[in-house]
Amino acid sequence: MLTQADNELMCRVGPGTGMGTTMRRYWLPALASSELPEPGGDPVHVELLGEHFVAFRDSEGRVGLLDEACCHRGASLLLGRVEGCGLRCIYHGWKFAVDGRVLETPNVPDTKFKDRVRGRAHPVREAGGLIWTYLGPAELQPAFPDWSWHSLPNPQVLVTHHSLDCNFVQVLEGLVDSSHLGILHNNGLRASLTSDLSYADKVASMQFDLAPRIEEEGTDFGFHYVALRDGLNGFREARVTAFVMPCIVLNPNGDVATIVVPASDTRSRFFHIWWDATRPVAEEPLRTETLRFVGLDAQTMQAYGIAADSTAARRPARSNRFHQDRKAIRTNQSFSGITGLVEEDVAVSVSGGAIRDRSKEMLSIADLAVGRLHRVYLDSVRRVLGGGVPIGLATGIDLAVARGLNAQLSDAKDWRSLVPLHRRGAG
Ligand code: FES
Ligand SMILES: [Fe+2]
Repeated sequence: MLTQADNELMCRVGPGTGMGTTMRRYWLPALASSELPEPGGDPVHVELLGEHFVAFRDSEGRVGLLDEACCHRGASLLLGRVEGCGLRCIYHGWKFAVDGRVLETPNVPDTKFKDRVRGRAHPVREAGGLIWTYLGPAELQPAFPDWSWHSLPNPQVLVTHHSLDCNFVQVLEGLVDSSHLGILHNNGLRASLTSDLSYADKVASMQFDLAPRIEEEGTDFGFHYVALRDGLNGFREARVTAFVMPCIVLNPNGDVATIVVPASDTRSRFFHIWWDATRPVAEEPLRTETLRFVGLDAQTMQAYGIAADSTAARRPARSNRFHQDRKAIRTNQSFSGITGLVEEDVAVSVSGGAIRDRSKEMLSIADLAVGRLHRVYLDSVRRVLGGGVPIGLATGIDLAVARGLNAQLSDAKDWRSLVPLHRRGAG
């Protein structure tokens, strides 16, 4: 349970807010590389932390991220023309390079004028199928995290994105909440028994122990937690999840990362990354098999109203009862009445309201990691407001030591020994 004041502090991300200022201290994914497929293509709108930007790829393939409002007199650069190595505003023709340099100001007689002004461009890095940016003060920019999947060839990294009409914290809570898997995702876990996918293999056993023991602790990068379940073979099954500040969750399957980025206070973008050291998971047939298993294939997303082109009326909401199939529940065809693992998560996240009120919730021992998530966030915000460094950014911390994994444990073995690089100074 949180006070309403703490809930607001944790959830609001606009400029000048505590969490907004904290989030702006980290590199964040702004969009997927696939959203800017080709050099010279159309610019795209990006909403991040309650602000609006345009991203574009110039003729050399470099990506720029500029404030949407043109720095001259505020026309939207979404209307702009990508011309060679820059984006030209259609109002007075000012042309901006990806780094914000003003290349031309055709409506100004003084040809040196362009050297005295600068577009509002933000640092960009493209890696592992995502385009990341940093929106904080230049002097505090941290090193760019070097995730293991960044070094793999493109066919071995599969990236998807979808959006949810709710605050990011309630989406992340679902990702550090192992106890809902065997219940909400009952349909998917049943299907996993007959699937050949390694993903399915790793989650199948969860349906046999619905009340996992949860243990958690703080780490230098955020926190980690374990869900311990009694396996069928006498071993305990340990599923270790790492939460990396500010919004990355490394799934215990070991080859999946999920990143939930606040677009605004009430909209979130969800990036899903699968990687495989040997197989082309981003190519057919693995791609479709992987996406279909979790409900991120085009057909399931369209049906549920979370595809990129889904209309506002189609998006899951109370007014359409979150597209739940009550008949499927009555006839025991489906536990949740919702098709797709991701869609089930969307339904429960969005159904809590745009910004969930945590002053009325009743947390249990199954929610230990959720409580830790709140504490890591509020601790970080308070550190930043006090002039300090938020969790994960102290000198010498390498976020990339974090990993998720699953293993079978004998009673004698502590789950922490599975992730010896995680704890260090813890904070
Ligand atoms: S508003 Fe963009 S060039 Fe004038
Ligand atoms: Fe879930």
